[in-house]
Amino acid sequence: MFEIRDKVFFVTGAAAGIGAGIVRAFLDEGAKHVAALDVDINNGKALEQELTAKYGNDKVKFHKCDVTTNELDAVYDNVVNDFGYIDVVVNCAGIMNDRPNAYLKEIDINITALIRSSFKAFDLMRKDQGGRGGTIINISSIVGLFQAHLLPVYTATKSAVLQFSNCLGKAPHCTRSEVRVLTICFGCTDTSLFSSSKMGAFDKETDELLTGSMGILPMQKIESAVDGLIHAYKHGESASTWLVTSDRPAEDITGNVSKAYEIMSQGVFS
Ligand SMILES: NC(=O)c1ccc[n+]([C@@H]2O[C@H](COP(=O)([O-])OP(=O)(O)OC[C@H]3O[C@@H](n4cnc5c(N)ncnc54)[C@H](O)[C@@H]3O)[C@@H](O)[C@H]2O)c1
Repeated sequence: MFEIRDKVFFVTGAAAGIGAGIVRAFLDEGAKHVAALDVDINNGKALEQELTAKYGNDKVKFHKCDVTTNELDAVYDNVVNDFGYIDVVVNCAGIMNDRPNAYLKEIDINITALIRSSFKAFDLMRKDQGGRGGTIINISSIVGLFQAHLLPVYTATKSAVLQFSNCLGKAPHCTRSEVRVLTICFGCTDTSLFSSSKMGAFDKETDELLTGSMGILPMQKIESAVDGLIHAYKHGESASTWLVTSDRPAEDITGNVSKAYEIMSQGVFS
């Protein structure tokens, strides 16, 4: 089992929602330090204040950071300078907005920044180049597992996260580096991701359908999402995929994902 105690954690999108829940859970289980990155200064500072009062100085630090910029590299460097190492990175920052004025940013945050952060973490942690090994946890979604036609761009970004993370997590990468890469597919979780100010579709007609579908979607609690991620962290093998939905315990669906790709790749090499 993988431990949380005395490890240094790095969580993006950590000021609110599931990310903030993950920060709380790591500290609750004895993390040495959690670096919490987000663009949301108000919620980030409030979280830092709340958790410093509870756990003491140097346990958590909020870093104002837009993951799509060079600020990300600077925070990696600062955390390594201050705490010597980063054992676990959770790439949780994400938006769900396919609107014409937002979808390029969505791709930038959900895919490009996640890949950039994963490679930064991989290079730092890899044992074959002086690191101590570690874990990268990338946040996909149930939309990576079915064809969610109302949000084609968001669905594409989360599918990209699934493929990227599983491919990076496979041998020989994981065996020579001793860096584990896990993918978490959350189901609908009660956060502000679905608020009308944050969420959007690519045109007016689809926007109406999307808004209409909201009331009927069952939402799990943030705590259930966080518990599932912690379970996957403790037990998951590299390149594993975890379904965390409907307030159920985390389910290792790596076998299903492999089977799906076996079917999709039929005839590809012949
Ligand atoms: N809530 C759900 O139903 C659900 C389901 C599946 C997957 N997810 C994924 O889980 C992750 C967390 O989502 P959430 O539901 O907690 O949403 P949220 O909106 O509550 O939290 C996302 C956080 O990311 C931050 N963020 C956005 N852009 C950023 C940037 N450029 N740099 C740094 N931080 C940035 C936001 O400020 C926010 O604090 C996202 O990747 C989301 O796609 C959520």
